[in-house]
Amino acid sequence: MLDRIDKVLEEIDSFIANASNDVEEFRLRFVSKKSVINELFEEFKTVPSEQKRELGPALNNLKNQAQQKLNELSNGVSSKASGSVSDIDVTLPPVHNSEGSIHPISQVKNRIIEIFERQGFNVEEGPEIDDDWNNFTALNFPENHPAREMQDTYFIEKDPDVLLRTHTSNVQIRLMNKKKPPIRSIMPGRVYRNEAISARAHCFFHQVEGLCIGENISFKDLKNTLYHFSREMFGKDTKIRLRPSYFPFTEPSAEIDISCFICGGKGCKVCKNTGWVEIGGSGMVDPNVLDNCGIDSTKYSGFAFGMGIDRITMLKYQLDDLRLFSENDLRFLKQF
Ligand code: PHE
Repeated sequence: MLDRIDKVLEEIDSFIANASNDVEEFRLRFVSKKSVINELFEEFKTVPSEQKRELGPALNNLKNQAQQKLNELSNGVSSKASGSVSDIDVTLPPVHNSEGSIHPISQVKNRIIEIFERQGFNVEEGPEIDDDWNNFTALNFPENHPAREMQDTYFIEKDPDVLLRTHTSNVQIRLMNKKKPPIRSIMPGRVYRNEAISARAHCFFHQVEGLCIGENISFKDLKNTLYHFSREMFGKDTKIRLRPSYFPFTEPSAEIDISCFICGGKGCKVCKNTGWVEIGGSGMVDPNVLDNCGIDSTKYSGFAFGMGIDRITMLKYQLDDLRLFSENDLRFLKQF
């Protein structure tokens, strides 16, 4: 009888190793009333009592082993080599893979690129770490001029000639140095300014600048380009307003306002009851800038503009805290 007990133990092992882990089949064969193990128990009753002392524990062990394997099988945990289909417990609730989404800043940036590409602009990129020449001097910022202070700059301590760009205008300079007119490009990218972080300001943000250089490019072209962009971006009824301003690299210069697309110009919280919201700066490229880049300013003229992508995204989705963009809070990001 001991041999038969061992045989059943072996059978259990080979069932687990080879069979399809059919729980019910296992139960019928080894655990049910009609199982081989139950038969052995019946037989056990008839063996002489001196043999019972040895057989009893062996038989109990067999019964326990069978019961344990049955539990394992029905819990989906098998002692079989892992990786088999049967290791998957189909009764468990599904695990949801949470898919990532495109960041709202990138979505708005992509839309801006799409609109300008249709107007014949191509996309140019440049470094976020640059030198004084490309970020300031070539852009007609005189040395020690207060305009430099408008753009609280991060300088590298060891070498004040190396800085984090404060605007994407450095790409304009690099572009004009390597390519001669006609130029029609936009430059999206991240920029840095030494500002205290608050709901309305951050030490880094995103801009898209545009540059168009050719013969006979006029302020009218600038206005038309911005008008077309605003209608595509904010809706067909959008109006634009160019307000006189100052930038060292453009003359004349203008701030770009669009009619508030929330209230249609009637006045609301978003436009602070003015009917207009500012989205960036613009102007005709100063001839000094063209000359600095080896472009003949008597022959060529051009316009440039720069807009805040973060600002446009905040307006579009009516967000009131810029910090949300960089906190990586899934509760926020999942909404886009
Ligand atoms: N570079 C300017 C800024 O960041 C924006 C700008 C670009 C204004 C081009 C006019 C023309 O403030």
